[in-house]
Amino acid sequence: MASLTMPDPAELDRLDVSRGSLWEANAWRPLFARLRAEEPVSFCPQSAFGPYWSITRYDDIVAVEGDAQTYSSSWEHGGIVIFDMKDTGVQLRMFIAMDDPEHAEKRKAIAPAVTPTAMAALAGAIRQRTADLLDTLPEGEVFDWVHTVSIPLTTAMIATLFDFPWDERHKLAPWSDWCAKIDIGPDPVLNAEREGHIFEMAARFRELYDERKAQPVRPDLLSMMAHADSFGEMDEQRFIGAIALLLVGGNDTTRNSMSGMIERITLFPEAWAQVKADPARLAGGAATETIRLQTPIAHMRRTATRDVELHGKTIRKGDKVVLWYNSGNRDETVFPDADRWDPERENSRRHLSFGYGIHRCLGARLAELQLTTLIEEMAKRDMDVKLAGEIERLASCFTNGYEHIPVTMSRSHD
Ligand code: HEM
Repeated sequence: MASLTMPDPAELDRLDVSRGSLWEANAWRPLFARLRAEEPVSFCPQSAFGPYWSITRYDDIVAVEGDAQTYSSSWEHGGIVIFDMKDTGVQLRMFIAMDDPEHAEKRKAIAPAVTPTAMAALAGAIRQRTADLLDTLPEGEVFDWVHTVSIPLTTAMIATLFDFPWDERHKLAPWSDWCAKIDIGPDPVLNAEREGHIFEMAARFRELYDERKAQPVRPDLLSMMAHADSFGEMDEQRFIGAIALLLVGGNDTTRNSMSGMIERITLFPEAWAQVKADPARLAGGAATETIRLQTPIAHMRRTATRDVELHGKTIRKGDKVVLWYNSGNRDETVFPDADRWDPERENSRRHLSFGYGIHRCLGARLAELQLTTLIEEMAKRDMDVKLAGEIERLASCFTNGYEHIPVTMSRSHD
């Protein structure tokens, strides 16, 4: 396991914060605090993912995301995560890994599916699924929040969003996981397996899409896409890419924010008591603060398209630039007492967990709706959740998430 000790000041500009062990041990905070304070734009010459720049202050992340011409998202340069997408077998043409103008066209096709009106149409189903699941939880027994609540609830939500056949919903999580495996490299066996799952997913979604197109528009993502003019004009690779993006985009992220919420309420029981006492006022803030502190996607990556100066450093054309949202979300100049979960924090919505600029998350409202609904339904049941063992985390600098959270739970019986 790599050393987790504090680097000496001379080593700060070579610090490799991408090491999975740092994330698994939840040991990244002090290192990022030092980078923000002493070396906010730092170059790591060697890592498992090659050389890369780390951007760790809030304002610098916003500046980089605000200049999409200089800092490209395109798959042609390697894409949007610290490992390059170029070498993987089947290429999913997701618009998150495209630059404008193509990105803007594809984004426009999906946008009508996530307007406030579209969200309002889904809200009832989301609340019902959430309530049903909470009512099945065992009281006084140890259970794993990740596998008993976060994963099934996220799967149910995604099935609801797409109005995907309920008895086939178990297929969604494995499809999403296979789509997300873009770091498997050139291994032909794994790539063939991945391709098989992706084609199976594409075929099933194509069937459903064609069915929805032939029917009047309904309040689900697939039907709304089928009735959006620009969506139907996509070629097959881009169609699959758009479906995969919605599936992957809404899967691990939302799941880990539901788990992150439990970690927060166990760390800040007094704030949770306040939320339960006044959910109408505080549930939304509790959800936003959870998403800020949890930061389900720890980073996005860009590639410099020209030589550019940032904080006196010269970033060269072709360099990888990693935007650490987890760090920007703890920048004390923007969020005083940044590590505190404060449902009343006034500027919590300025967090960077959904990114910034032309690629800002299209599912942000939906993610907030899901998490706020979960918090409201827990408050309605006066639920208290306590940790009953060690939290196990993923060893990933991209998906900042949880393997297991053992808990016990109590609730009222009114
Ligand atoms: C807490 C939950 C979520 C988090 C933290 C999250 C995070 C992100 C981030 C960081 C980006 C990239 C932003 C950038 O590059 O500036 C993004 C983009 C995106 N997200 Fe989310 N997301 C979440 C939930 C969802 C959901 C529920 C959906 C849809 C069902 C979704 C769909 C998308 C799409 C389509 C994009 C691409 C936007 C573009 O490239 O224009 N996300 N998300």
